[in-house]
Amino acid sequence: MQPALLADAAELAGLHALAFPPAEAWSADAMRLMLEMPGAFGLWRPGAGLVLSRVALDEAEILTIGVVPAARRQGLGAALLGAALAGALARGAATMFLEVAADNEAAVTLYASLAFLPVGRRRDYYGRGRDAQVLRRPLAPPLSLS
Ligand SMILES: CC(C)(COP(=O)(O)OP(=O)(O)OC[C@H]1O[C@@H](n2cnc3c(N)ncnc32)[C@H](O)[C@@H]1OP(=O)(O)O)[C@@H](O)C(=O)NCCC(=O)NCCS
Repeated sequence: MQPALLADAAELAGLHALAFPPAEAWSADAMRLMLEMPGAFGLWRPGAGLVLSRVALDEAEILTIGVVPAARRQGLGAALLGAALAGALARGAATMFLEVAADNEAAVTLYASLAFLPVGRRRDYYGRGRDAQVLRRPLAPPLSLS
């Protein structure tokens, strides 16, 4: 796993397009904009997966996380998420937030396995009939990533 740099934007966008449906894929320009936001950082494994996160004061959020279909169910999603949690803690955050489509079974199960708990719901957030769950996880040490 390696840090995501601005120079990686095109490759990151290529990975994102493999991991997400076309309507949800981020362009290289979108990747650059995300990485340039204050407090933003990313980690990725070339050809396999990426995670982007952002820290603002003591709160952090997952901006996106994706693993290409061929690399799924091998622990990379959990490893990327764990690295983002550790990175956010190291940057001073105490809590990590994220949003997930309530019907995204893979992601919902992954987040539950890493101790994220629901704190809210945004109705129709991903389109009509597709609610978002807002999840939260404390980052206070000792940080357990298993
Ligand atoms: C969600 C995603 C990142 C998971 O990546 P991954 O590398 O396959 O995840 P891992 O192999 O680390 O899985 C860790 C655990 O998550 C759960 N999980 C992962 N995929 C799952 C699936 N399809 N169904 C049920 N549980 C699943 C399991 O508990 C799994 O542990 P196990 O394999 O020991 O049973 C990947 O499916 C993905 O990129 N999906 C499309 C993009 C997306 O939806 N991103 C999240 C948006 S909020």
